[in-house]
Amino acid sequence: MAHILLGVSGGIAAYKAVLLLRMLQGTGHQVRVIPTPASLDFVGDRTWQALTGEPVYTETQVPDVRYDHIEMARWADLLVIAPLTANTLGKLANGLADNLLTATCLAFSGTKLMAPAMHPAMLNNPAVQRNATLLTEAGCFFVDPGSGELAHGDSGTGRLAEPEEIFHQVQLLLGETATDTGGNSLAGKRILISAGGTREALDPVRFLGNRSTGIMGRELARAALCEGAQVTVVAANVTVELPKQAEIVTVESTAELAEEMLNRSRCSDIVIMAAAVADLRPIAFSQAKIQTGFDRGLTLQLEATEDILAELLQRRHEGQVIVGFAAETGNASQGFLEMGRAKAIRKGADLLAVNKVGASAGFGNRDTHLYFMGPDGELLGEASGTKFQVAQQLLALVSQVSEIEP
Ligand code: CTP
Repeated sequence: MAHILLGVSGGIAAYKAVLLLRMLQGTGHQVRVIPTPASLDFVGDRTWQALTGEPVYTETQVPDVRYDHIEMARWADLLVIAPLTANTLGKLANGLADNLLTATCLAFSGTKLMAPAMHPAMLNNPAVQRNATLLTEAGCFFVDPGSGELAHGDSGTGRLAEPEEIFHQVQLLLGETATDTGGNSLAGKRILISAGGTREALDPVRFLGNRSTGIMGRELARAALCEGAQVTVVAANVTVELPKQAEIVTVESTAELAEEMLNRSRCSDIVIMAAAVADLRPIAFSQAKIQTGFDRGLTLQLEATEDILAELLQRRHEGQVIVGFAAETGNASQGFLEMGRAKAIRKGADLLAVNKVGASAGFGNRDTHLYFMGPDGELLGEASGTKFQVAQQLLALVSQVSEIEP
């Protein structure tokens, strides 16, 4: 059973954290609660002390303290903050440590789950959205707030997710549930995932590249870890934190990515090409910075890079499942699904996850919608939600595909 820190910040939804605490304890987890000073107006420290049987502190500088922020951080396997207010979110995104909860968060390098709760007007504020994006990039998970009635007689999106939903996310992160979307369905499987985007150097300071951050690859890695898989991520210029439980191999160019993926695929059961791979690279690399009269323009000579997915499919061993990705926008003559279908047939991967580029934004993590196509272009399923949620659904389909593989 896990050691869980439950952070509670100051909002009316703090009472729901009591229910969450009971659920966590009910499944045998050891829980310590760290309320912020402001939250004590909503649920007092005596409640937390009575329910946990542990001393409860809110500040770092306390005489006779039994647990300080460093000890708390060392003790915990998982840190959950529910509710997370806009104020605490802002502090965490900026690395502030003005109370025990924020200081512990800074000292804790394990998995963090945030359940925000605030008025819709605050939720939609660009500063709040920016802070949530910063935390997502730093590796925090979010449980999106729900819609309904709020304090002040208002309604809209912003109320704390239900304790059951937060509890379910905790179980998924701890890899404990035995449901379709979480558990040990990939126990013993070795999964190789490419993430990020490759860069092709022109000279020591310039490169041709793309905007991929690596979030999709990271979420796949996390979802696979939650399902009990052994995960390797080959990361090309990833700008977000990758899970510590995975083996991480860093590369820069398509040639390096190809080498790592092809070598490592030999002992992998599932290979997922989530990286955005440069299709072309400069024919020549200039050792010295290119000096040009750019006013006359510059013509670059490019050559095709390795088609890693095609090579993986050629070398595919029995029982191995290979997944590709395709981001499509569609054009005047073809919709994005038709384009995805044509690519699925052309590529011949066991699964091609087709993504319509330009989906709407969610809290912390962008919502996305994927269509899964088989090697004959048949639609095998679709998934929508945060990238973590669609990653879980993709892996559920991979498990099914691997069961029917000869
Ligand atoms: N891919 C690859 N090697 C390449 C290019 C792409 O392995 N040199 C993989 C990507 O990781 C992805 C899939 O192939 O899983 C489809 O990528 P995409 O760029 O959409 O495919 P392309 O063949 O480059 O198609 P397009 O002509 O639309 O760019």
